[in-house]
Amino acid sequence: MTHYRPFFKSASRHAMGMKALDPVDWLQFGDDSSQQLFERRQLIKERPGDVLTALPGSEAAQEELLALLLEHLEHVVTDRYQIGDDEVIERATGWSCRRAATSALSLAGQLVQEDLCLLQQQHGHYALTAAVLCFPAHWSLLEKLGKPLIDIHAPVPGFAEQLGNPVERLFDKLDAQRPVERLNWSLVDTDSLYLPPAHRRHEVTISPDQIGDQLWLRVERQTLRRLQQTKAVVFGIRTYVAPLAAAIDGSESADALLARLDEMPRPMQIYKNLTDVMPALITYLKGRST
Ligand code: HEM
Repeated sequence: MTHYRPFFKSASRHAMGMKALDPVDWLQFGDDSSQQLFERRQLIKERPGDVLTALPGSEAAQEELLALLLEHLEHVVTDRYQIGDDEVIERATGWSCRRAATSALSLAGQLVQEDLCLLQQQHGHYALTAAVLCFPAHWSLLEKLGKPLIDIHAPVPGFAEQLGNPVERLFDKLDAQRPVERLNWSLVDTDSLYLPPAHRRHEVTISPDQIGDQLWLRVERQTLRRLQQTKAVVFGIRTYVAPLAAAIDGSESADALLARLDEMPRPMQIYKNLTDVMPALITYLKGRST
């Protein structure tokens, strides 16, 4: 599994943290692929109303997304699937999905580890029009559907003031040939991938000697890619979860996380649900620091 540790880099509050993405690296399959794909297929089967959603008018973008994804799987990640006109078959397991029996978004969401959101221009702003979201980090698809980016991010401290305009400009300018990526991190008290809003931690006491095994670093590798025909933007979210102890493997990583916590404004600490665990977390990190 790729161990992303975004906390090594100081995040300027004004920066989006975007970097160019080679289109061949759009999708990432990892050691966790069989577990994550199994869970995605279960969730899509058992609770489609929670993890799949689309507004009327987004159908062409959904089809274009699936076509691009299948092309990628056929020509870039060639070893995973056998892609026929009627059926897609997973080579390793024999799992298969009939194309006529499955919606474009549902099929797309079952083939890759990424969650996939579509944003389309409405009244001059990009709004969430469709998504397959199996691994939400404490947010609800239905609550965000149809909203523009600025409203989607309403609970994020400082977003409107510092990131609203740059993000809007990035969406306007995004070139179909030049996708981008960024990383987002949080610390959570579970390794569950499906985290609807109700799972937010409240009163939890974790002692410093347990924290390495009871907190998980949850990293989202987020990608943005413009679809050529419909001009919709695909927001891909690939989720990585590892125990904090695996991420803090020495004094350098302990120092880096301490520095990020230290520079984080209080409203962001509250938003990221860190305040309850902060004293134990700092004791744990200082014990591993230089
Ligand atoms: C340039 C693009 C983007 C930037 C810079 C950005 C930035 C952020 C940041 C800083 C947070 C707070 C996360 C944390 O620190 O834990 C956040 C949360 C979030 N972002 Fe974005 N984001 C971007 C694009 C998107 C897009 C396209 C969506 C579409 C679905 C999205 C949906 C969300 C949601 C649902 C949350 C959680 C909000 C909540 O707590 O209710 N973001 N984003």
